[in-house]
Amino acid sequence: MKNWSEAYRPKALFEVIGQENAIEKLENYIKNFPSKKKAVILNGPPGTGKTTLAHVIAREREYEVYELNASDLRNKSSLNEKLKPVLEQKPLFESGKIILADEVDGISGVDRGGVTELVSLIEDSEYPIICTANDAWSSKLSPLRKKCEIIEMKEISPADVKKVLNIILKKEKVAVSADVVNRIAIKSNGDLRSAINDLESASKLGSSEVIEIDARNKQTDIFKTMRYIFQDKATEEMLSAFDQVDMSLDDIILWIEENIPKVYSGADLARAYQRLAEADIFKGRIYHQQYWRFLVYENALLSYGIAEAKGKKEKGGFYKYSKPERILKMWLNNQKHAKRKSIAEKFSSATHVGQKRILREWNEIKNILKSPLVQKQLKLENEEVEYILKGC
Ligand SMILES: Nc1ncnc2c1ncn2[C@@H]1O[C@H](COP(=O)(O)OP(=O)(O)OP(=O)(O)O)[C@@H](O)[C@H]1O
Ligand SMILES: [Mg+2]
Repeated sequence: MKNWSEAYRPKALFEVIGQENAIEKLENYIKNFPSKKKAVILNGPPGTGKTTLAHVIAREREYEVYELNASDLRNKSSLNEKLKPVLEQKPLFESGKIILADEVDGISGVDRGGVTELVSLIEDSEYPIICTANDAWSSKLSPLRKKCEIIEMKEISPADVKKVLNIILKKEKVAVSADVVNRIAIKSNGDLRSAINDLESASKLGSSEVIEIDARNKQTDIFKTMRYIFQDKATEEMLSAFDQVDMSLDDIILWIEENIPKVYSGADLARAYQRLAEADIFKGRIYHQQYWRFLVYENALLSYGIAEAKGKKEKGGFYKYSKPERILKMWLNNQKHAKRKSIAEKFSSATHVGQKRILREWNEIKNILKSPLVQKQLKLENEEVEYILKGC
């Protein structure tokens, strides 16, 4: 089953919310292609509809989309290989085509491949090229900027986020309190994808818990830092890479674990996993023996250690980093256990059965808890009752 943010990805232009300006500019670019600026960069924060808009605009015009990924831009021959079907002439059945270079700020190899390949592709292309970026103004993209019109995509306003969330709730036929929807909309910081994800988890918890999954601005920092460590040449300065990231090393391990296989492969990946495992051992010692000075080693393995696992070279190309699924799962799990524990406490004080035993025999006990009479006697909160009725 698709998650909600995928299931509700707009399929038509009118469904793309809050980006009227960008839509108009992009339509003009495609209508007037080729013009002086031969490509565009959709530039804006995460979750504002950049990738979606590129696909939707193609779909409305029945254009095919050719999406370039990390390895395609490594050198000329891999790029040509990928674009062969696009560049081949098929005059009889010619349909429109769009080339999509998603997340170009993931390119890091400045001298070889990467930006240079993309720029020369733009110079030669007979088809419109849409790039997307979170930070089109970074210095490494300056050769690309010269060839591109930059179209800014705005953060989605809280009011618009709320509108989208309420439409989804209606379609899913589930209720989440207006207060929670409000809070999600404000906390999203204009990132509609994360707002939809938070809404989905809130609906699954079936309660009015405060959504504190993690602050949105932390994510941009960690994405930048991962790009730095995974893709730039390993240097000693990397030892302080995490100083600016407002996140614990425990969380950073999860982010690295989730994303490292997207960038590293073969022996590099094996080495990186080895260092992750070593960092995890220090983490264990820190917890069990309270050896705080081991934090230095854990930090070094996760920063310089991971960077150095790829050798001393830079790594060009686009990589789509993502948030670790495990954080959300662990959070959901903890929520679940928190409820179970609070119910067990009440059950234990009413029956004098030990809490451990209650938790061990939960499968039987949860059936007893289904009785409204028992629920009343234990003075269960609405949320606890809801939890039991959902089958725990
Ligand atoms: N403007 C929008 N209108 C409607 N839905 C949106 C919009 N922006 C984002 N979404 C929702 O968020 C999801 C992610 O959007 P999308 O992948 O286009 O973001 P993006 O801007 O490309 O983000 P990133 O920078 O992380 O790649 C979509 O599937 C959709 O559900
Ligand atoms: Mg995108």
